[in-house]
Amino acid sequence: MAAVAVVGAQWGDEGKGKIIDLLAQEADVVARYQGGNNAGHTVVVDGKTYKLHLIPSGILYPGTQCIIGNGVVIDPFVLWDEMENLVQQGVDISGLKLSENAHLIMPYHRVLDKLEEAHRGDKKIGTTGRGIGPAYVDKVGRIGIRLGDILDEAFLTELLEVILPQKNKEIQFYGGEPLELGKIVEDYFQIGQKLAPYITDTSRLLNEAIDVGRKVLLEGAQGTLLDIDHGTYPYVTSSSPIAGGATIGLGIGPTKIKKVVGVVKAYTTRVGEGPFPTELHDEDGEALRNIGAEFGTTTGRPRRCGWFDSVMVRYAVRVNGLDTLAITKLDVLDQLPKIKICVGYKLPDSDEVLTEFPTRLNVLAKCTPVYEELDGWQEDTTSAKHLEDLPMAARRYLARISELVGSEISIVSVGSDRRASLKLNSIF
Ligand code: GDP
Ligand code: IMO
Ligand code: MG
Repeated sequence: MAAVAVVGAQWGDEGKGKIIDLLAQEADVVARYQGGNNAGHTVVVDGKTYKLHLIPSGILYPGTQCIIGNGVVIDPFVLWDEMENLVQQGVDISGLKLSENAHLIMPYHRVLDKLEEAHRGDKKIGTTGRGIGPAYVDKVGRIGIRLGDILDEAFLTELLEVILPQKNKEIQFYGGEPLELGKIVEDYFQIGQKLAPYITDTSRLLNEAIDVGRKVLLEGAQGTLLDIDHGTYPYVTSSSPIAGGATIGLGIGPTKIKKVVGVVKAYTTRVGEGPFPTELHDEDGEALRNIGAEFGTTTGRPRRCGWFDSVMVRYAVRVNGLDTLAITKLDVLDQLPKIKICVGYKLPDSDEVLTEFPTRLNVLAKCTPVYEELDGWQEDTTSAKHLEDLPMAARRYLARISELVGSEISIVSVGSDRRASLKLNSIF
């Protein structure tokens, strides 16, 4: 049995947490491969809500091994809080394993994230302010500090003696206050001691699990259009949420991934800045935000809302090689009389309809959507268990999405709770 990757196919917050939790019922291992505590994954079980930022959404099943891979950037204090919170809620976290090669978010990353955003002015990205971008910059710049490094106080001091003066210069360039070396060493060495029992070579663990036939889920954070290479650059995050990122972020070969599942919301949302062709500024957008409770899990910001964009999701099918889709939040559309799907884009002063997602940001920013309108179903779908339980118009909507984006659908979600799910095809 090889691994199954689960990725976001839009701009994040597609409901990955809910779908991973659902699939984790059958899995032995769940491994997160990129991002950091910019992510907010919500899992609802029997009315109880868990908000996860770093720990994989398989943690709620006792005995499931949950890996945070080398591709994740870890804020060790946020991670420790999350671990303690779960334990307080009675969750068994003994299956948690952390890659010794995962890079750390350092205090100067958080400071620089905010200073750089302020410096960009009206060109700001709208980051989560958690230090994610600056941490990945240092990783690529070869001046990052990894989880394994903080277990050795002398080695950590040696690294910071070179890195911190450089970071302090950057902070001062933006008018910020320099940070003190001694305190950082002390704080990070101490938290390293607490995390030490969980730190290991996770690539080895994961490959062994795959080789003996365990069922493994690879958990993506963010979404395809936030990918550093394939997203709406520069309004993206600094890692690779697409399926290809899983091999690098976990140390497994691409041959080990047997299936890629794309999580797709039945409409579109985005947090932060950047172009969004189907964004609604009217009462339909308000309705989606209110009914869908579209407020960020991490920052509480209202999410921008709009109609389903099949051009964008077809692009996500392509760059991830999606085999199948999990469609979430279908129930949010339950009461709408009419529902629109974007089937193409138009540019000003041209009659041509674009049906491929433009990769140049200044082109995308000028695109206006071409819509197809479908009848709504105006019926409650939240207790549906099988495709046949859904109203005909809802089935038509799903079939049209599947046809337009070129992928079959395996899961339909009709509520935040684990049980509010229709499994159409098996994933493992
Ligand atoms: P993630 O970042 O992709 O894991 O998604 P988030 O957890 O940030 O946002 C998805 C939100 O929608 C969460 O509050 C979920 O509890 C909720 N949710 C997930 N699936 C469904 C669904 O099918 N219906 C409804 N109404 N809510 C859902
Ligand atoms: P999950 O995993 C939605 C967005 C931010 C901002 C951009 C860059 O819950 O789907 P960053 O702090 O990463 O440098 O911010 O990316 N963003 C997300 N939007 N869901 C997320 O994660 C996100 N993580 C980052 O709003 O626009
Ligand atoms: Mg989220």
